[in-house]
Amino acid sequence: MIIAPSLLAANYTRFGEEVRRAGCSGADWLHLDIMDGHFVPNISFGPGVVRAVRPLSKLFFDVHLMCSQPEILLEPFAVAGADEIIVHVELGEQVTSLLWKIKSLGKKVGLAINPPTAVTEVQPHLDQIDLLLVMTVNPGFGGQEFIHETLPKIQQAEAWRRERKLPYRISVDGGINYQTAAECARAGADTFVSGTTLFGAHNLKAAVKKMRKIVNANDPALADLTV
Ligand code: DX5
Ligand code: ZN
Repeated sequence: MIIAPSLLAANYTRFGEEVRRAGCSGADWLHLDIMDGHFVPNISFGPGVVRAVRPLSKLFFDVHLMCSQPEILLEPFAVAGADEIIVHVELGEQVTSLLWKIKSLGKKVGLAINPPTAVTEVQPHLDQIDLLLVMTVNPGFGGQEFIHETLPKIQQAEAWRRERKLPYRISVDGGINYQTAAECARAGADTFVSGTTLFGAHNLKAAVKKMRKIVNANDPALADLTV
């Protein structure tokens, strides 16, 4: 189980310290949301910020591109220190070549899907990816409420993974708190992106520990072992 605090919910007046705080929190990954003001109605930060904070932490940098033209951003984010780059399936025909490009840059390959998009859209790409990011809110802003209708998508992604013996992770992003993380874990998620609940906590280390304990307790694989 991977716990990934989302930097979008960090205190922007002290970004560097927040990255260090995440690095010492027991979290596995740092999730970095890149918004271009076009694919989503909000703007966050770019490769320069990623490059600046990269030396402050050894965490795996999980870079989520919510951008209409990711092809011009893949290399800058790869050079800036991304470990994984995620693009959206809603980009359509260019998705296959974007995924190849990420792989050719030596980075882990991620594919995200928005709540209104049918889960069958990701099916042709499953053998090309290291991670499927199931958006559990409409992307663009932190602090939104979890959309429960996305849970069957996680179950379907997990069923395909099992049937086709594929290794991709199933990540969830948006409105992930202790309760919804448990629901997602039971549905088959293994990677939990959380902004408000984790960075919003006074004690990030305790919050990561609590979320990890809860998702482990709801891991269906471990439940099978105890039967
Ligand atoms: C939403 C972003 C999320 C966001 C999650 O557009 O992709 O990663 O940071 O934030 P919370 O956990 O506050 O919903
Ligand atoms: Zn995200």
